[in-house]
Amino acid sequence: MFGFRPPRFHSRMSRELYSRSHLDTAPPRYNGPFYPLDKSAFQKSIPVLAARVPASQTSSILRSEVTRKYLIGLPKIRPVVSDPSAPDGDKLVLLGVSDPVELSLESLKLIESNGNGFTHYNLVLDYDYWTTSELLQAILPEELREGAPVGFAATGHVAHVNLNDEYLPYKRTIGQLFLDKNKSIRTVVNKLDNIDTQFRFFQMEVIAGEPDFIVEHHESDCRFTFDFSRVYWNSRLHTEHDRIVQLVQPGEVLADVFAGVGPFAIPAAKKGCAVMANDLNPASYTYLCQNVKDNEVSDEVRTFCEDGRNFIRNVFRRVYDTPFPAYTGPKLSKTALRKLQKQTARDKPAIENPPSQEFKPSRRKIDHFVMNLPDSAILFLDAFRGVLTDKALREVYSTMPIIHCHCFTRELELEQAKIDIRQRVEEKLEASLQGDVEFKKVRSVAPGKEMYCVSFRLPPEVACNTKE
Ligand SMILES: C[S@@+](CC[C@H](N)C(=O)[O-])C[C@H]1O[C@@H](n2cnc3c(N)ncnc32)[C@H](O)[C@@H]1O
Repeated sequence: MFGFRPPRFHSRMSRELYSRSHLDTAPPRYNGPFYPLDKSAFQKSIPVLAARVPASQTSSILRSEVTRKYLIGLPKIRPVVSDPSAPDGDKLVLLGVSDPVELSLESLKLIESNGNGFTHYNLVLDYDYWTTSELLQAILPEELREGAPVGFAATGHVAHVNLNDEYLPYKRTIGQLFLDKNKSIRTVVNKLDNIDTQFRFFQMEVIAGEPDFIVEHHESDCRFTFDFSRVYWNSRLHTEHDRIVQLVQPGEVLADVFAGVGPFAIPAAKKGCAVMANDLNPASYTYLCQNVKDNEVSDEVRTFCEDGRNFIRNVFRRVYDTPFPAYTGPKLSKTALRKLQKQTARDKPAIENPPSQEFKPSRRKIDHFVMNLPDSAILFLDAFRGVLTDKALREVYSTMPIIHCHCFTRELELEQAKIDIRQRVEEKLEASLQGDVEFKKVRSVAPGKEMYCVSFRLPPEVACNTKE
């Protein structure tokens, strides 16, 4: 047992702060090789005070208001451990101080009455203990510590970062840290600046892990498989994918001009829409088809691999000539279907005289277009000119489809952005937009560059226009 003299604190607050911040738990400064990291160099011993307490008494110290604030209180460190020198004896309750003089009188008394004195305990922290951010602070030179990359975007098992030039000498170290600290990550890539201008996917360099880009990614209860190095995918668009899918009602028909691997098309189909989905990138098309199959929406989604302009020109006729069957209600999962079949077998007599079914027509009209190619989607709008010149086709369209067209603008103010986007859309359509026009800011993509989605009804005079 130590002899002790309690310290004097000016207030309860200062004592609490004292006990929590007293231990230096920062990782040691690292001077080893940058790659591979010498993980053993991160080991650090911190002597802490421990109260010897019979196992049956530990809770009185852990729960008491008086002592609770002196507990070790470090993330991932359990406050009660076995005594290494007497594993079957008293437990050790770890405290966030290194000397009993740092404890208040009250807490000393409580520990005395429940325990068997104090001892020192060597708390050992190592590479596994610290976060990526803490380790980077110990590894990087001082001038790079502020602003060091600490996060990444994950697509399936691939973590991607966008390293500034000054961090490139440390890219493999950073990659190793992300890999070590995140169990679901198997590959870390650094996105290079050059984006494929046509199909919008990034060039990337593996900085850690396996060079395996075929990911399985989950979004909106759908499973997407794709080769991240050959197709476009951006997990930051999740909210936008969801928003558009919410706008489309079950039973409606959606045409997705730049469908990618299906993040609008497949969730929409799952909720009961019929979808015409197109992408010009053969790799996107391949994975789009696979995702349609994997998500069991082959009856709801028809896939195409052609230029968006041709797709727009042909899709009205295609849906008209080969309509989608009538919508008969939400699609059931396999389990729900099996349950219903069992129930149907049980209730056979009732089913033999089914209630008369309301007639529902097949679907030959497109209700929505989505055009997510923000760099140039507006330039494709002229393809809508004259799409309904055929009289039979036009008759199906008592209301015109709504077009959700994504675009970029350099205008940062909403009102200015609206003017800029509207002007470019109307110029391309050669008509003014009537009725409700919605401008939704999707995200800021870069300083001075905003992504928007403008939603408007296709003006009938555009659709019926014959002039080229
Ligand atoms: C920005 S991505 C959007 C993909 C998907 N809709 C999404 O939200 O993830 C644009 C897509 O348009 C495709 N694309 C580019 N040019 C095209 C064209 N002329 N016709 C059809 N698709 C095109 C690209 O391959 C890419 O998959």
